[in-house]
Amino acid sequence: MKQYSNLASVYDLLNDEYDYNRYAQFLDSEIRTNEKTKSSLVLDLACGTGKITFALRALGYDMTGVDLSEEMLSVAKDVCYDKCINDILWLCQDMRELELYGTVDACVCCLDSINYLTKIGDVKKCFSLVHNYLIPDGVFIFDVNTPYRFENVYANNDYVLEDESSLLAWRNEYNEKSKLCRFYLSIFEETEDGTYERSDEVQTEKCYSMKQIKAALNECGFEIIKVYGDLDKNDATDTNEKWYFVARCIK
Ligand SMILES: C[S@@+](CC[C@H](N)C(=O)[O-])C[C@H]1O[C@@H](n2cnc3c(N)ncnc32)[C@H](O)[C@@H]1O
Repeated sequence: MKQYSNLASVYDLLNDEYDYNRYAQFLDSEIRTNEKTKSSLVLDLACGTGKITFALRALGYDMTGVDLSEEMLSVAKDVCYDKCINDILWLCQDMRELELYGTVDACVCCLDSINYLTKIGDVKKCFSLVHNYLIPDGVFIFDVNTPYRFENVYANNDYVLEDESSLLAWRNEYNEKSKLCRFYLSIFEETEDGTYERSDEVQTEKCYSMKQIKAALNECGFEIIKVYGDLDKNDATDTNEKWYFVARCIK
């Protein structure tokens, strides 16, 4: 079963409370602080429905959004259509096989998209390709879900999220040994006649340690500038739910 196919229509409901503008401001501030030449072209890797892409565009960047899910990109393209936005390049690609037309000045990859790469070799493939397409000294910023989150927050917990016309039931299964976390998602969407249609999706994320991510970045030609534990730029700790990596492409 494909990931992010059935979920695409309710993904924004799932992240309804999430403050994408705040995340975009964090990205903007890190890009501006660490760039050596002014960045204008930014790649949003695993952009999903494009929430970060749109927020960065609003801050003045030229955006390319890449995602593996046609359904997620289709939600982003509908927004473009509704708002008459025609200056974002959307590409349906696997981030392990990224193929761009040219270089980008900076790359971001948000909301634990890296954890969807379930082998460290795939993470390295992706980092190497990002390195390949970044200009020298270009900034790469991404976040990952932490071991603390997998072990203590996701664990084997269940959640239910709902709005007026849809309901999402979400069951987690975290395997401490394999470090794989499966999310079993059941989506119920109201149809025109008032009945609910059910669809299911299984997703898998992999838990990586700080050491693994740092080693992968170094191996793929990045210098690590900073790892934050939150968007307020506090230092990373073992009890953060996310870590935010800021790295520079060395060529
Ligand atoms: C949690 S969502 C994050 C989406 C978006 N970055 C955001 O901030 O809302 C993870 C995204 O990663 C994408 N994804 C997962 N594996 C991928 C891969 N191998 N290549 C490209 N995109 C991938 C999914 O399709 C999904 O849109």
